[in-house]
Amino acid sequence: MTDQSFPIPAGVFAQTVTEVSHYTDRLFRFRMTRPASLRFRSGEFVMIGLPNAERPVFRAYSVASPSWDEELEFYSIKVPGGPLTEHLQKIREGDTVLMRKKPTGTLVLDALLPGRRLWMFSTGTGIAPFASLIRDPETYEKFEEVILTHTCREVSELTYGQELVAATLADPLVGEFAAGRLRLYNTVTREDYPFRGRITDLMASGKAFADLGLPPISPESDRGMICGSMAMLRDTKAALEGFGLEEGSNSAPGTFVVERAFVD
Ligand code: A2P
Repeated sequence: MTDQSFPIPAGVFAQTVTEVSHYTDRLFRFRMTRPASLRFRSGEFVMIGLPNAERPVFRAYSVASPSWDEELEFYSIKVPGGPLTEHLQKIREGDTVLMRKKPTGTLVLDALLPGRRLWMFSTGTGIAPFASLIRDPETYEKFEEVILTHTCREVSELTYGQELVAATLADPLVGEFAAGRLRLYNTVTREDYPFRGRITDLMASGKAFADLGLPPISPESDRGMICGSMAMLRDTKAALEGFGLEEGSNSAPGTFVVERAFVD
């Protein structure tokens, strides 16, 4: 479907889509070939576009596949009238997707100080960088326990994360690292579900910790990574600071990190 009569801009990779799965009318996942020269750290993002204009629109997308994977995976929302996703949601196997050459981002293991338990807080498509990190054996070399929280408006929006965690635990390479140490905590805000509410409220009330059978977050043992909407980043950051954690970066590792590359 992509109009490939436009030349590929300089400095970008042109890759071939290998698989597309639609989860809901708002969410889909695609996989594409990986440039042989691409190196990235699990949790980083790249700029993605389509060859459908002289000057294509690029948007930040977390790489959802781990750094050892031969292909690249992405998890995307479909924004009605969105300059990129309106077209991206129509891609099919064999189509071309453009990618700028430099991966970057703060949701990387190197930006965290050593700790015992790693919390990954996500809402909506914010689960994507964690889809990469939970499939990276290095995550389990650095942390004894990994708690992935994923909150969505509706139950059907949890599917990608649930399938991902099940596949990770069954994976011949990563499964033995993740077994008994990777846990998924799903909550839903706008439909009935056994675990209901925003993760920020569930931490404030203590219910998230009671549900998981864990003590509240402490700077001695716990580390955090946050990915979601701007409002979710702000409120989850405040919650972690309330527990005594401090934000870090690539140049100054801390006890939690936030990715701000995704505009609402
Ligand atoms: P809610 O339904 O109460 O708004 P979105 O699609 O808007 O990014 O939301 C994805 C999920 O993130 C929803 O479950 C939403 O809850 C939740 N959410 C939205 N804003 C915040 C926030 N400031 N802090 C925590 N969770 C939030």
